[in-house]
Amino acid sequence: MSTIGFGIDIGGSGIKGARVNLEDGEFIGERLKIKTPQPATPEAVAATAAEIVRLAEWEGPVGLTLPSVIKGQIARSAANIDPSWIGTDVHELFARHLGDREISVLNDADAAGIAEVAFGDPRAREGSALFLTFGTGIGSALLVNGQLFPNTELGHIIIDSVEAERRASSAAKDRDELSYKKWAKRVTTVLREYERLLNPGVFVVGGGISREHEKWVPRLEVEAPVIPARLRNRAGIVGAAMAVAAHVAP
Ligand code: BGC
Repeated sequence: MSTIGFGIDIGGSGIKGARVNLEDGEFIGERLKIKTPQPATPEAVAATAAEIVRLAEWEGPVGLTLPSVIKGQIARSAANIDPSWIGTDVHELFARHLGDREISVLNDADAAGIAEVAFGDPRAREGSALFLTFGTGIGSALLVNGQLFPNTELGHIIIDSVEAERRASSAAKDRDELSYKKWAKRVTTVLREYERLLNPGVFVVGGGISREHEKWVPRLEVEAPVIPARLRNRAGIVGAAMAVAAHVAP
């Protein structure tokens, strides 16, 4: 396995790519970022991903993330992206734009989860870990000894008639103008439900709001330790590069 990979993280506002050292999870050189085209249709997004690879002068395999369920390299959901992604053969799409090379596409939270478990806090490396990313939605990745159970979509679980991500994403905090204290109560409700059903050994919490983890993580009332993510916005790119290098294509 080559020790240098390339990952592209496709988000609602930006498409970001970098070369990744697969031995330590660090970027090699600069991270390239291009605004997500609007409307963010598959063709427009794939053309932007190709532009990033061209600018980086990268010729090897490319891993990509999408905020979507990816099964058999077909996008199956579009909770916070353009609905035209549903049913898209993402392998065919990106292969057409990126040319003859190995490609794998996976869910954004799944990518971030494998990277956090590999290069973040060592407590997440052994046994079961539930990685969660708080942003526009709630993304989830379930891992056992670093191995991924893909496409868990736990942000869409309904608790007391309210969807988890509607209740407790960081967008919900902004929308409802909640203090960290009030928002942490909502996150506790969601994490307790995950704990009741899945009993992970640890929770790892990521997303932009994990930068302020000291304001809310200590307020969470669950049994398992809650560990703030360490790779932050690097995680998606690193996980995508890891996935394609390991020939993982859900
Ligand atoms: C989507 C997931 C995604 C998460 C984070 C959710 O709304 O359903 O696929 O991982 O947002 O982007």
